[in-house]
Amino acid sequence: MQRFVFFGGKGGVGKTTISSAYAHKCATAGLDTLLVSTDPAHSTADVFDQRFDDDPQRVDGYDSLWVMEIDPEREVSEHLMEVKRALGDQVSPSIVNEIDRQVELAHQTPGAHEAALFDRFIEVMRDSEEYDRVVFDTSPTGGTLRLLSLPQYLEGWIDRLLSKREKSVDLYEKAAIGDMEPRRSAVGDPIIARLRERKENFEFAGETLRERSQFFLVLNPDELSLRETERAIESYDERDLPVGGLVMNRLTPEPDPEEDGRGARFLRQRVETEREHLQRVEREFTPPLVAAIETRIAEVRGELLAEVAEELDVSI
Ligand SMILES: Nc1ncnc2c1ncn2[C@@H]1O[C@H](COP(=O)(O)OP(=O)(O)O)[C@@H](O)[C@H]1O
Ligand SMILES: [Mg+2]
Repeated sequence: MQRFVFFGGKGGVGKTTISSAYAHKCATAGLDTLLVSTDPAHSTADVFDQRFDDDPQRVDGYDSLWVMEIDPEREVSEHLMEVKRALGDQVSPSIVNEIDRQVELAHQTPGAHEAALFDRFIEVMRDSEEYDRVVFDTSPTGGTLRLLSLPQYLEGWIDRLLSKREKSVDLYEKAAIGDMEPRRSAVGDPIIARLRERKENFEFAGETLRERSQFFLVLNPDELSLRETERAIESYDERDLPVGGLVMNRLTPEPDPEEDGRGARFLRQRVETEREHLQRVEREFTPPLVAAIETRIAEVRGELLAEVAEELDVSI
């Protein structure tokens, strides 16, 4: 398996549950495993009955499982401060306030969350060499995919900015000193240095996601979830992101044959409909179905987590 493993899918399908089960599987097999949760609801805390924060913390009862929870809100505000500081260093004091205002506005747009989170993902991917496996419990499909397409999109944009900036430094120098040897050049220019750093970050991310990562999609046995997953597979394919398999979660358990009450009849009907969905996934979807997990009577934690982990046909 690749070092980085992502579990995607719409909110509520079971990403946190399945990624926790997979992390459990890796850790109990002896791999140093880091589970990164980005869920604002912070449900890894519920799964492991322990509080986590931004620094990886070892999970009680495990020798080699660590969890970190990234808070998207905090990432956005820290990102905001960092951008303000970096710009403030580079412009004249008279326009600092105006720039602050613009940057604040920019951070209120829907893409700001994804951008800030993505920056944090990159940091985690860079700083996690000490782990054998890093498991991400990603944010819901739409946002995740927008965020994953950022590298290609930003690279072109930065290239254009770079060439403009290089030209303007050059012109500025010619205007100031005529034909003499320029005092300043684009080399060593702080703004260009920063843009290059951004670009390298995104190149690293694109490469890491395509070549050292594997994506699993979690879905539920209903029409809406199937359609969502179909679209997600297409988007991953378009971006050359390898989808390793599909995890069907929350299948209705079948009642015992001798049960014949209204509840049992209802469940049987459900099981039948869900089975059709499951078969369609096996027949029509390209990535393999790596698990079909029934809805448990209680939330998946403790013993149940170990049970679900056993059912994941995902190599470690
Ligand atoms: N197979 C399952 N059996 C019972 N409860 C489940 C199962 N899968 C998920 N849940 C519960 O459903 C809720 C949503 O699951 P979660 O993993 O947090 O979804 P996501 O991370 O995709 O939003 C949680 O309360 C979780 O405990
Ligand atoms: Mg979650």
